[in-house]
Amino acid sequence: MYALKGNLIWTEESGCFRVLENGYLLINDGCIAAVSSEPFAGVRTEDFGSRLIIPGLYDLHIHAPQYMFAGLFMDDELLVWLDKHTFPLEARFSDIIFAEKAYRAFVNDLKYSFTARASVFGTIHKDSTLFLMSLMEEAGLHGYVGKVSMDRNSPDSLRETTADAIEDELGFLDKAPEYRNVKPIVTPRFIPSCTGELLLALGKVAKERDLPVQTHLDENPGEIEWVKELLPDSKSYAEAYESFGLLDTKTIMAHSVWITEEEMDILQSHGAYIAHSPSSNMNLSSGIAPVRRFMDRGINTGLATDTAGGSSLSMFRMITDAITSSKLRWRLVDNSLAPLKFSEAFYLASKGGGSFFGKAGSFEEGYAADILVLDDVSSEMTVLAPELSLPEKLEFYAYRAPDRRPVAKYVAGKRIV
Ligand code: GUN
Ligand code: FE
Repeated sequence: MYALKGNLIWTEESGCFRVLENGYLLINDGCIAAVSSEPFAGVRTEDFGSRLIIPGLYDLHIHAPQYMFAGLFMDDELLVWLDKHTFPLEARFSDIIFAEKAYRAFVNDLKYSFTARASVFGTIHKDSTLFLMSLMEEAGLHGYVGKVSMDRNSPDSLRETTADAIEDELGFLDKAPEYRNVKPIVTPRFIPSCTGELLLALGKVAKERDLPVQTHLDENPGEIEWVKELLPDSKSYAEAYESFGLLDTKTIMAHSVWITEEEMDILQSHGAYIAHSPSSNMNLSSGIAPVRRFMDRGINTGLATDTAGGSSLSMFRMITDAITSSKLRWRLVDNSLAPLKFSEAFYLASKGGGSFFGKAGSFEEGYAADILVLDDVSSEMTVLAPELSLPEKLEFYAYRAPDRRPVAKYVAGKRIV
């Protein structure tokens, strides 16, 4: 048992900050045990002074192999970007030495980022994806990692036969339980990359082993047209995933920029999550997702970098990009969808996405002790600092210092930074 002292800020409900200046956070057995304005007698307490103490942030959708080219190749939209850059570069992860170098750099940067837990895509390669899991585990990060499944519409160098895709997925799933905190997730890339036979087999294995699923949905108009051509009898892209049994367990659908109301009904009936990836959606010219609509409907929603769609690992950038893009949707597309407030975007990045991992992303009793300690950058950067509230200091941090490192980072009560 131990305690932290500092300026505590968190959200329990969307749009409503809770604050405790010079507060105390009691951690027991990896979980938040209590929040108090008084010290906990007889408990070892680390005093972080005027620094901000917030819950961990959660990246619901990120491609680990793409981190090596995050910030490059931003001139193309999705399908061209995949063919020209992403697929040839992911193919290089068949070389375990290459994969090791790339994944070490990724995991090291993720460790020092604001992300406590993430849902991660590897590549089709079983051994390098298992190696990625081992690195994340070693770094003290938690979350899910998937071996990507792809058996059509990609170059020979990044395509499996259907039989190999199923066999390697089972081989991956048999090895993956060796890790305690980093768990496997079934990962069909998206419908254009997977035959119906493979999608059905993956849906079946997810159900039999009660595994979560992650994939892409309704990201780009050209992609959606292609899915219609590939599956002319499906009512919609989401209905196709449903028909393959890929919405029967806990599922993350990345993007959902162009999702229809009927498809939202489908996702909602299964309790599926949308990983809203505003930076990626702008970089790849995908569009502006109706995130306010997701929130109004009560769809489970979190934020995601979708690196290398997003060029930064910073969840603070995702928070501010989610706000900015919601303003554009409101102004340019649909003025009934109000822009996000900072407190709402913070909720999506913390408790909203965190709920995919269990009780995570808040300072309520029994929640995982995922904790970030941040410098109060306002005191360095603006003469207004003494007049600012704690949420204003946090907003200032998000916009002015989104690429800083946290001073300390705890995941499930264990200090990793
Ligand atoms: N759809 C299928 N694969 C990908 C990918 O790697 N990135 C993004 N943004 N969308 C995808
Ligand atoms: Fe993606």
